[in-house]
Amino acid sequence: MNSATTILGLPNELLLAIVAAGQEIVDGQQLKPEWTCSQVCRRFRDVIVGAPGLWTLIDLDLHSDSLADIANVYFTRSQACLLSATLRESKDIQNDPLVAEQLSVIVPHIHRIRQLRLFLSANAQIALAPLRPINACNLERLEIRNTVDLFDRTVELFSAGAQMLRFIGMKGATPHFPVPWAAALTHLELRKREKWTSSEGSSGGLTISTHCPSLAHLSLNMVDISMGQLHLPCLTVLHISLLNSVADQFHLLAIFDLLDAPALVEFRISGTHADQILVLFNSTGLPHSSFPALTSLTFVNVSCGCDEIPDDALPITSAPPLFPLLSSLSLIHQCFMSHLVEGVLSSLHTWPVLKTLTLVPPEPRYREHKAVEDVCDTLWNACRPKPQVLPKFRLSASLLARMKQREDEEDEKSGIDMELDENRFVTYIT
Ligand SMILES: *[C@@H]1O[C@H](CO)[C@@H](O)[C@H](O)[C@H]1NC(C)=O
Ligand SMILES: *[C@@H]1O[C@H](CO)[C@@H](O)[C@H](O)[C@H]1NC(C)=O
Repeated sequence: MNSATTILGLPNELLLAIVAAGQEIVDGQQLKPEWTCSQVCRRFRDVIVGAPGLWTLIDLDLHSDSLADIANVYFTRSQACLLSATLRESKDIQNDPLVAEQLSVIVPHIHRIRQLRLFLSANAQIALAPLRPINACNLERLEIRNTVDLFDRTVELFSAGAQMLRFIGMKGATPHFPVPWAAALTHLELRKREKWTSSEGSSGGLTISTHCPSLAHLSLNMVDISMGQLHLPCLTVLHISLLNSVADQFHLLAIFDLLDAPALVEFRISGTHADQILVLFNSTGLPHSSFPALTSLTFVNVSCGCDEIPDDALPITSAPPLFPLLSSLSLIHQCFMSHLVEGVLSSLHTWPVLKTLTLVPPEPRYREHKAVEDVCDTLWNACRPKPQVLPKFRLSASLLARMKQREDEEDEKSGIDMELDENRFVTYIT
């Protein structure tokens, strides 16, 4: 059979399905299936051009001379459909007004844009000026990544409204408050390059609490106690990374006391040090905060480098009183890991609901740095002989391999329910 005839004989519905499937795979600057397939023959072109749904994913290079023409092809062919638009600077040309001018091609169509992603190297305050006074009435999701290190600006957006906007992710730029739509936001991720104090003197925590009371998911970096109190009654997921200049053992406890978030279920913190965790676990109560709903707690410290357990390290003798419902504890690249694990396992009878313990020890960088070996020993010694109910263990690849090797060496099963911790590890190293 002639394969060319077979392709040309594709029924229209199948052709449209193939192009749509191709669009799910392609991201970035590669050739788009709606262009390549429509060039095969006249019929393909007519079918594809006549399918508005295939022209709803706009991806434009802000430095392209043909930006306006390409944009108009999409705006026309998509007819009345809602759109996802990505606009990127492919290089840093340091001409902020030009970027603003190019970006303004979307302004007349902003009411049709549901998702907007901007990758900028220009000064966001200048480049985003066209978006300031307008109403983005169908926008649900906004992502802005300012890739040049110099710019960490407050940008004023959609002052005429954005009543459907629920998700904002920004890096190297911060939304300017107050704006009327902020009260309905449920998801906010901000990666700043300066710590969390605003120039007006009020703290970043207060600004977010005041303007975004509906937040369910919040991610912040560069956090220290200058952030001030966060009052977020609907917050269920919180990810923060600590400014790493403070290493006082009471620092983490002080950060927890900033959080008035009684609905919080999942909390992940990076930049923690083990002696701070020990103080937190030893604490029986905090003046301003409690965590009645918290089930998942994750501590990440990519590389503080210390692995000697100091003689005066606090022991863990019972489950942390602050977290009565804790069912999942994760320690990722955390120092004193074997000390922490030993404390948890020796006091397991006091952890009423612990179901999962995720352990990703620091990988050996020096020959004498042997966290994987130490944690393996701790697990083996603590769990094997005792007939007690153990949590499920999610282990890093090297720790899991070491445990299996240990089983072979001893010719004995560990009796531990263990599996590979696959997804989580990747997302921590950001
Ligand atoms: C780990 O924690 C220590 C002590 O707080 C800090 O100095 C260090 O920078 C942290 N490392 C990372 C990668 O966050
Ligand atoms: C640990 O808890 C006990 C009892 O609440 C308290 O007296 C002690 O000061 C705590 N230790 C640290 C280092 O926080």
